[in-house]
Amino acid sequence: MVTYEKQRCWSILLRLFHWMFALSIVVLATTGFYINNPWAGNMIEGSRAWPITSYVRYIHFIAAYTFSSAVAIRLFLYIFGNKQERVLDILPVTGRNLKNLFSTLLHYSYISDKHDERLGHNLLAGATYLITFFAALFMILSGFYMLFPEVAFWQKWGVILLGSQQQARLYHHLVMWWFIIFSVIHVYFLTWNDIRHPEGLISSMFTGVKFKQKV
Ligand code: HEM
Ligand code: HEM
Repeated sequence: MVTYEKQRCWSILLRLFHWMFALSIVVLATTGFYINNPWAGNMIEGSRAWPITSYVRYIHFIAAYTFSSAVAIRLFLYIFGNKQERVLDILPVTGRNLKNLFSTLLHYSYISDKHDERLGHNLLAGATYLITFFAALFMILSGFYMLFPEVAFWQKWGVILLGSQQQARLYHHLVMWWFIIFSVIHVYFLTWNDIRHPEGLISSMFTGVKFKQKV
């Protein structure tokens, strides 16, 4: 009989990061689409009433601060988190990690049935999360440049790194698509993995625990 044991995998801080990050992105993308093409209540612009677009922008900024705090938490965990949470665990720089990267690619393309078990992320997922982390830094940079154009720091670095406000806005919009495409593929692969391998992958982001086969 196959028996499984519980293994602690994700700290409470990582789970907090995950849900702050995921939920704020849903709000940011929804309000972002509206900011791009506002259609309601614009006729009261300039009157004493607060136009709907201002409310939507306000919600975007509240979510933006949640998002930025989540990114700060993840930066902390990349350095000081548990073994699975540190950046070295997901960089394709060690023999074990490179091996995992190739075997995951083969497994995901249905070429091999072999599942190279790890407690943390597989390397393909981990590397994608790191790219997402840099995309998040970019959203913060371009977002704060748009929000505080008059502040000397953002003005200086915004212009050097992104060009004009309008250019920053375009890049901010385009990089949003990374998050949307990522989310769809993310949830697809989580479900795919959870069906094939009984380690409790999806629930691990709620409980912090995975189930590993006892040897
Ligand atoms: C994944 C995270 C984010 C997504 C998906 C997102 C999405 C968007 C989108 C689609 C727009 C409209 C751009 C356009 O006109 O096409 C926008 C505008 C904006 N976003 Fe974000 N955003 C994110 C994070 C942030 C952050 C962290 C900040 C930081 C304060 C921020 C601040 C702004 C500002 C200031 C605007 C311009 C508002 C205006 O022109 O009225 N965003 N965002
Ligand atoms: C129903 C929705 C979701 C569920 C159940 C879920 C669950 C999970 C699980 C189980 C992991 C770990 C997977 C692994 O080991 O590779 C994970 C990681 C991650 N998810 Fe989600 N997720 C959801 C939505 C999202 C969304 C919308 C985003 C952002 C766009 C997101 C961003 C991330 C990131 C960045 C990681 C890596 C965490 C880390 O840095 O260690 N997730 N998620």
